[in-house]
This record gives sequence, structure tokens and C-alpha cells, in this order.
Amino acid sequence: MLSMNSRGAIRSIDGGRFFSSFSPLLRGQNVIEKIVQKYSVDLPEGKNVFSGDYVTIRPAHVMTHDNTWPVALKFKGLGAKKVKDNRQIVNTLDHDVQNKSEKNLTKYRNIENFAREQGIDFYPAGRGIGHQIMIEEGYAFPGTLTVASDSHSNTYGGIGALGTPIVRTDAAAIWATGQTWWNVPPVAKVELKGVLSKGVTGKDVIVALCGLFNHDEVLNHALEFTGEYIDQLPIDYRLTIANMTTEWGALSGVFPIDQTLFDFYKSRLSRLGANHPRINKQTITELEENPVKADDDAYYDKTLTIDLSTVEPSVSGPNSVKISNPASKLSADNIKVDKAYLVSCTNSRLSDIQAAADIVKGHKISPGVKFYVAAASSEIQKDAESSGAWQTLLEAGAIPLPAGCGPCIGLGVGLLEPGEVGISATNRNFKGRMGSRDALAYLASPEVVAASAILGKISSPAEVEGGAAPGVSTVKTSIRKNEKPEEEEVAEEAGKSSVLSGFPEKITGEIVFLDTDNINTDGIYPGKYTYQDDVPRETMAEVCMQNYDLDFGSKTQAGDIIVAGYNFGTGSSREQAATAILARDIPMVVAGSFSNTFGRNAINNALLTLQIPKLVSKLREEFPEKVPTRRTGWKFEWDVLKSTVSVKNEKGEVILKEKVSEVGPNLQAIIVEGGLEGWVKAEIAKSSK
Ligand code: F3S
Repeated sequence: MLSMNSRGAIRSIDGGRFFSSFSPLLRGQNVIEKIVQKYSVDLPEGKNVFSGDYVTIRPAHVMTHDNTWPVALKFKGLGAKKVKDNRQIVNTLDHDVQNKSEKNLTKYRNIENFAREQGIDFYPAGRGIGHQIMIEEGYAFPGTLTVASDSHSNTYGGIGALGTPIVRTDAAAIWATGQTWWNVPPVAKVELKGVLSKGVTGKDVIVALCGLFNHDEVLNHALEFTGEYIDQLPIDYRLTIANMTTEWGALSGVFPIDQTLFDFYKSRLSRLGANHPRINKQTITELEENPVKADDDAYYDKTLTIDLSTVEPSVSGPNSVKISNPASKLSADNIKVDKAYLVSCTNSRLSDIQAAADIVKGHKISPGVKFYVAAASSEIQKDAESSGAWQTLLEAGAIPLPAGCGPCIGLGVGLLEPGEVGISATNRNFKGRMGSRDALAYLASPEVVAASAILGKISSPAEVEGGAAPGVSTVKTSIRKNEKPEEEEVAEEAGKSSVLSGFPEKITGEIVFLDTDNINTDGIYPGKYTYQDDVPRETMAEVCMQNYDLDFGSKTQAGDIIVAGYNFGTGSSREQAATAILARDIPMVVAGSFSNTFGRNAINNALLTLQIPKLVSKLREEFPEKVPTRRTGWKFEWDVLKSTVSVKNEKGEVILKEKVSEVGPNLQAIIVEGGLEGWVKAEIAKSSK
């Protein structure tokens, strides 16, 4: 077992099946790397996990919600019968809880029956939003890796857990084998400097961050929040900030495990009683004695700072989190509001409902506004009823909805109609998300939402009692890209990994450069074929990249290596975006960066990917004239044994030599088995022998 503060060291693994050794990096680990280390399986002894590594993870818990049934069908389709570890799995029903149609009730019954048969912890419709239950019931716990088949798994970072989303195939793989894979993302540090002014909330911080750092600065990164006074940020604020790191583009956003968190768990303990299976004296003492903390010499890809004292109540939108403005500025614009929402996993905890009630007390909701309220869980609703906050809101004219997602995801009553304007304490304001595509959606804190509901226009809380909206200040921020410490020179022999039979030792080919950022999945595989079943491999090869460049087919040949710009594979999740490239007999894609969904779909379908921004820069320097598909004459070689990539130009001169992520045994096995589903089937077959 590795200690949390252990350092890497060169160490041969005698008789190891796959690895003879590993990269001898001697730097410390950040919190993300330490948590992943704890939940990685089959690591060579002494191996320290760092950003970039592909690892097999066995998460502490995995949650699925209304999507449990499709995951169950996938699970069964893989030939699995019994889940590997029913204590690892949680099923909740939260998205479509207002839908009482026979079809939905049948789906819900199927999920409940499945959970009961398998002995899985199940939370029925009405109990609350899955993410909130995961926190209330201690499944997501500080220092653990907890995943869910939902994009807002980031929420768990608010209590110091590494929460990250997975796709349905991953969920089915974890059900069947207890495991899936993860590529540890680059980690950025977010320094929250200073303290918040009175009336400014966690929501204002994340709304400001999304609007001010709106050029994908943290795209596909994991974030660690720090700050001298971070202990003054209540846990509910942290949960809101962590929740919306998803909209900011990050894969996770983790807060420190500190005294404020210990106090939160102690008060939870007195609420739950002594015998709770996950939140009890023993688990809290262990947490206090061994909190996960970053090493002093841990590496962060970049450091972003925001001065909290300069943040004021803020509003994001319309229809994009990349636009944020102080509420005071929008108040001056007199933006009339039709609907207001205090719902969702972002901001419907007790303190949110209490804060909204404090604003509303003694007032009525504006006659032109419908104000919908749903608690994040039944426990929260009960507490809000006991405190009187719930009644305060209802007496003012708020419309209650059952604990669950509802309008946040555009389901049930109270959606935005064409031409309407909504202000919501939720996390997403994409066009059409909360109803009509012809509506405008803004996001804000419960306080700003409540104030806007009372005054009938986007307003600052101060205005409710006749005060003036505060003046517009400039939020102070900064960003710094950090120098990566020089990696130790890897001795030829010491640096070698082994390869699994069936996995190539070297992958070579001519580079075909697609000099474009944000190539989307529709460009890679046209939407019109996506829902056609049984498209033959030849047709897939033929239409591959057709929507991106009609000449792609004639300019490429089997064995080429695609190198593309940044954020390759953005857009809707489409497995064929990976399989069509393989159908074209192109074994791998290199890019400046990948969309997270494409990255997962690629490996899950046995398409290898590598992220090498330097190679993109070199190609752009050499070939400044933009051509959608260019044969370069450059030769690419990935030496899997040495974990190095080298690129030579037509004259044979070395253009680039770079150390790249190790392809661990787990990832090799997935590729050899033709993807994650094939690997799961092989694992099931092994365990039934
Ligand atoms: Fe549900 Fe909305 Fe959260 S759909 S899980 S409340 S983001």
C-alpha cells in the first residue's frame, strides 16, 4: 500500500507482467494525483500517479440516476448478470420525477426492481437529486474518488472528493468489473484571494470565474481551489462553485479538506446519529487524522487567481455562462423577468432556500413573475419547512415543485416559453435548456433570483428594501502558466515498459495535418448516419471527415496519423466519430487537446489518442498556410516501450522528441480487446471460468 506522501522512485518489478519499470519522476503530487493514486489498481509497486497517466480506477462509488435503465441494458448486453460490488453502486431517480406517464413509471419500476435484485442502494423519486443524496448520505466523501454518469459529478469537489463524470459505458463497466480507466487530466490551481463582501455568495464567484476566464483556460483540467481565507467559505458555497466548474469546462473542482469541512461533518453526524454506515465517528476521525493534502513540490499546469473582495452579486447570460455581469449593471438595463427558479443541485440547499426567504420576507412575488422552488432533497425540504423558510417563500407566492431536477433540465412544469426571460439559480443557461430556444435564460445566486422575482426585473438584493444597487467594480484576476519541472532523464533500460501481446511496440505513420481547432463530431462523422444502424465499415470509412473536408478521403491513406488542432471531437457524444477513423485504417489521432467526451469514446472504442500541443505548434510554424487536410511528409513514431514520440521531417531531421504518457497494461488490454466493452466481456469470461 502506498503512503499518501510517497515519492516516486526507480524500481524494477521482477516478474511484472507488463511493466519492467516506470517514469522516475521525483516531484510531489497534488491532491488530484493523490486521490487517483488511492483508487488506481494494478499499479507497479512504487509507481506514483501524475497528470497524463492512464490508470485503471476502482472508484469508491458510482451513481446513476434516470439513466440507470440504459446502463442496465448495456450491462446486460455485455453478458453480465450480477454486479461486481453492489456496495459501490448507487441508483437514484431525480430527473423526470414529475412525469407520471405509464412509460416513465415503468422505467422507474424497472430501475427499482433491478436495484433490489442486485442489492444496490436505491433512492426513489422524491428523495432528491442524486448528487445531493451522494453528499448527504456520505457516498461522496472527502478524499475519495466518486464518479457518476452525469456531468455535475464535479459537485463532490465541494466536500474535498474527486468527483468526475463518466459515460454510460464506463458505468456499465464499473458495475460489471468494479473498474474503468481514467486519463489523469492536467491540474490547475485556483487561488481564491481575500474574502467575500457581505451579500456576495459562492454562486457569484463561479459566475464571475466562468465569465472572466472564458477562453477555455480550464477546459478538461482538474482544479484545486486554495486561498489564505478559504476556510471562511461555507461548504454550501464550495458545493455551488464545484458544481459549476462543469460549465467552466473542468472535469473536476476540488476544495481543501480543512476544519470547516470537519465541522460540517460533525454537524452532519449529530443529524444522522451514531450508526450511519459512511458518516460516523470513525470515518470523521480518520479524515481528521489523515486529510489528503498536496505536497509542497506538487506541480500545477497553471495558476488562476481571483480576488474575492472585488466580486459582487453577478449574473451570467443570457444563454451563455461565458458572459457575466454584475447584477447592478443588469439592473440598470431594466430586464423584465417572466420566470424565476430556485431549483437544482447547484443552489437548492437549506442555506440557499433560507437566503432567498430572507430576501422575500415581507414582500410578494411580482404579479408578472412565476417563481418556482424545489429543494435539492426531501431532507432539505423538511429542514426548510422546520425553519419556516419554505413557508415564507410559498406565502410570498412561490410555486413548490417536488425535490428533483425538473425545470433545470427542461422537464415538467414551469418551463420557459418563447419570448420569455428567466433567471435561475441553476447551472446551465444554454439556449433551450430550460424550455424554449426562443427564451432568454440568466443564472444567478438564490438572493439575486429572489430579488428579481420580487421586483419583476433582474435586480440586486439591496434594491428589495429600496437601497441602490452597488456600483460596478472591476473584478481582479490573473492567470499564470507554470513551467513544468524538468523530468529526470530516463535511462534507456529503466524507462522501458512492456507491451501486452497484440499491442504494437511502435506506432508509426505519415502525419496528415488537419489545421483546425474545434473539429466537431459532426465534422468527423455526419449526423445523418449516426442513427442508422448497421452502416458498413466501408461506408463509415468513406464518409469519415466528409463534413469537415470533402477531400479528406482522397488525401489520406491507411496507416496515416492524424494530427489536429485543439479541442478535437467537440460537440455531441458520438461513438462513430472514433470508429469511423478506425474504419479509415487510421490507428491514432494526435491533437493539441481533445474534448473529454471524444477522448473517452476514442479509448472505449480502441482508437488511441495523444495530446501533444508542441507538435501542433511545430506544424503551424512549418506550414503557416491553412489547409484543411495536408499531407506533411513528416514521419511520426510512438515508441510505446520507451513512452516517447519522435517526429522527423522529409529530410530525416528530428523535429520533435517528447516523453508521452505511459500506456499502462489496463489501457493496452482495452485496446487489444477492441474497446472497453470487449474488455468487460473478456473480464466476465475470465471470472466465470
Ligand atoms: Fe439535475 Fe440539473 Fe443537477 S438536471 S443533476 S439539477 S444540473
